[in-house]
Amino acid sequence: MLRHLGLCALSSLFLLTPLAAKSVEYGDSEFSPSVGQAGKDVIWVPTPDQLVTAMLNAANVTSKDLVYDLGAGDGKIAIAAARQFGATAVGIEYDEKMAALATRNAARAAVQNKVTIIRGDIFKEDFSKASVVTLYLLPDLNLRLRPIILKMKPGTRVVSHAFDMAEWEPDQRIETESANGYMWIVPASVAGSWTLEVAGFSQPIELQLSQSFQIVNGSMMLDGKKLMIDTGRMRGDQLRFSVKRPSGQVLSFEGRIAGGKLSGRMQPMSDPLNVSGKLVKAAR
Ligand SMILES: C[S@@+](CC[C@H](N)C(=O)[O-])C[C@H]1O[C@@H](n2cnc3c(N)ncnc32)[C@H](O)[C@@H]1O
Repeated sequence: MLRHLGLCALSSLFLLTPLAAKSVEYGDSEFSPSVGQAGKDVIWVPTPDQLVTAMLNAANVTSKDLVYDLGAGDGKIAIAAARQFGATAVGIEYDEKMAALATRNAARAAVQNKVTIIRGDIFKEDFSKASVVTLYLLPDLNLRLRPIILKMKPGTRVVSHAFDMAEWEPDQRIETESANGYMWIVPASVAGSWTLEVAGFSQPIELQLSQSFQIVNGSMMLDGKKLMIDTGRMRGDQLRFSVKRPSGQVLSFEGRIAGGKLSGRMQPMSDPLNVSGKLVKAAR
């Protein structure tokens, strides 16, 4: 079954990249790569230019970002991140000739000061400092990377050409005429018991939160009543949720988590209230 999935995924690497042949331009007199050539864990097929731009746009890449392309091939994603978006970029590529070609391509594109190509294994190299991670791998490789990615700084954006992250739903789908992708934002950990002080409320509010990736569920104790959390969601370190009071009034919370502290605004529609609180007990 897994083998079948792997073969399907491999063929989709080809099917989803009809413009792939164009990228042979990225070869040079020293080395001309062939689309579909073997790689350590996945073959080389370049991402079409249109999707490269769409992926970097979806990740909102700016000159402040450090972009890591895991399995960099000829370096085109790292080069585009530097050339079109002004980012600093690192490509990790296992194949020695591809890594050398990517380095020469970066120099030809005049972004050698912004692009570094590391000849290495994406499962051994440290990419924890990245603010944006780009992938065009295979479903099982995305799943191997998922726990590593989820430990990265909340707010790190991850974009993947073609392949998803199974139960971790994307925050955005990326569609172009030639190929599609996904974008995720690494969520902060919020699961646990929280006590919130709310201006205007005599009693602190108790929050019990559970979390599945960016989706947050749980309850809020307010005035002795347990209110269930509706549409709770993390976007990096930003938490949003709403609860409905027995009167029908909807309270919306919007805030930020940093160092075990939560601060934000509770909006009973008319008059936003400042809310701040701390994590009492993290969920295991
Ligand atoms: C499908 S290509 C994608 C290339 C590039 N990221 C793009 O989208 O145009 C995957 C690349 O990953 C490289 N690769 C495979 N396994 C790797 C590993 N364990 N570590 C680093 N690179 C790897 C392959 O040599 C190939 O160049």
